[in-house]
Amino acid sequence: LIGFEPLLTPRLILRRLEPEDAALVQVYAGDRRVAHFTARIPHPYPDGAAAQWIGETHAQMERDAGWQLAIARRADEALIGAIGLEREEARNAAELGYWIAVPAWGRGYATEAARRLIRFGFEQARIDEIHAHALAENTASRRVLEKAGLAFQGFATVTLELRHTNARAACHAATRGTWKPDA
Ligand SMILES: CC(C)(COP(=O)(O)OP(=O)(O)OC[C@H]1O[C@@H](n2cnc3c(N)ncnc32)[C@H](O)[C@@H]1OP(=O)(O)O)[C@@H](O)C(=O)NCCC(=O)NCCS
Repeated sequence: LIGFEPLLTPRLILRRLEPEDAALVQVYAGDRRVAHFTARIPHPYPDGAAAQWIGETHAQMERDAGWQLAIARRADEALIGAIGLEREEARNAAELGYWIAVPAWGRGYATEAARRLIRFGFEQARIDEIHAHALAENTASRRVLEKAGLAFQGFATVTLELRHTNARAACHAATRGTWKPDA
């Protein structure tokens, strides 16, 4: 077990999600403009689902199987998003995912959070490869991944089970030895 201490960046803290975060998670993640760019966030977001998810994130962290964290602003402690790494069973790799609340878009928060969590993944969790998928039309997220040092690998078809559809996604990845976030 590697244990987990909150991760700091100049403006943000990445910390465990707490039951008190559930109401804001439901509102922010359930926003259509957020949910529809993700594979796993339901829209509409059902009552009770956020509390259940938060409980699952704790169980996952206790097994070192993944780290799904709240993104909060250090200045006012406001929750502005969530970010996570989820390990794959078969190899020492993990998938990165994130969302930022719509009112906080466009200020560089996703990039700042992604760089920090990727660093944690490589340096503390000792993961060999971190990858992420963004829908082909999700320009903002593809830009975040590039800036966080996950290089474009190519397009793939992904299954969006919640939406009963397939979509084209850009695959991005980096390995521990070669990762270098752009400045
Ligand atoms: C993707 C998302 C996390 C970005 O959060 P953010 O904090 O606004 O991102 P940042 O400010 O760090 O960076 C966004 C980058 O995309 C660019 N961008 C934003 N919207 C854009 C658009 N429509 N077209 C082109 N570029 C765009 C910004 O200019 C910025 O790049 P820059 O620094 O070179 O100018 C946020 O929009 C979101 O939560 N979207 C819905 C959920 C989602 O897509 N999650 C990721 C799934 S893979």
